[in-house]
Amino acid sequence: MLRICDLSKVYGRTVVLRGLNLELKDGIYCFFGPNGSGKTTLLRIISGFEKPSCGRVFFEGKEITGLSPQRIVKMGIAIAFQLPRVFWNLDVEQNIFLACMDKKKVKEVVKTFRLEEDVKTIAKKLSQGKIKLLQISMSYATNPRLLLLDEPFAGLDVGNVRLLIEILKELVGKKSMIITSHRPKLLRGIANKFFEIRGGKIAGSYENPT
Ligand SMILES: Nc1ncnc2c1ncn2[C@@H]1O[C@H](COP(=O)(O)OP(=O)(O)OP(=O)(O)O)[C@@H](O)[C@H]1O
Ligand SMILES: [Mg+2]
Repeated sequence: MLRICDLSKVYGRTVVLRGLNLELKDGIYCFFGPNGSGKTTLLRIISGFEKPSCGRVFFEGKEITGLSPQRIVKMGIAIAFQLPRVFWNLDVEQNIFLACMDKKKVKEVVKTFRLEEDVKTIAKKLSQGKIKLLQISMSYATNPRLLLLDEPFAGLDVGNVRLLIEILKELVGKKSMIITSHRPKLLRGIANKFFEIRGGKIAGSYENPT
């Protein structure tokens, strides 16, 4: 599904990714590692928001290196950023509709993400947890073959963490995902494999997080 060859990213003098290689089949993957190890940068490169300094990215056999985010979304990769990007003055339903332009899909997404009671709520009036769910639901609504979630549990209270885990469990076997998290243990029973990123490379991979 996704193949990354010799990927590097340098900002000025900072080497963030150094010759990262990765090959993923369909499934759910967790990337964890210390702050600044390059997890977000990797997701931004895969989704086209950042260009690599060198290396190549292939999705379903096609090269996507350096393509624009718009083109990459059309090819089937969507990203939910750590900080919410929603339309603050529109309600939940309108937000999701703008992501997919499909009323039937909106219904499905609202149900999947347990947003039934909030469909008419203006985004800026939502709790932090609900905003996060809305944001993830909007990326999901574009029907991606691969969904990238950057720190989906960050800033969520215990209840919403539990809710998100429940939602992700329902997507096992149905949606391919790469999820970055400082809390890989939360993804036990969800992720097929865990990759540790350290110093801009894959430092190890595990079936279960330690
Ligand atoms: N636009 C940028 N310009 C310069 N440096 C950047 C830029 N974006 C990221 N960096 C640097 O790249 C490094 C890796 O950042 P990145 O956000 O990918 O790490 P991360 O693994 O996601 O960290 P965290 O766990 O804190 O989310 C950091 O040292 C960061 O300061
Ligand atoms: Mg990050």
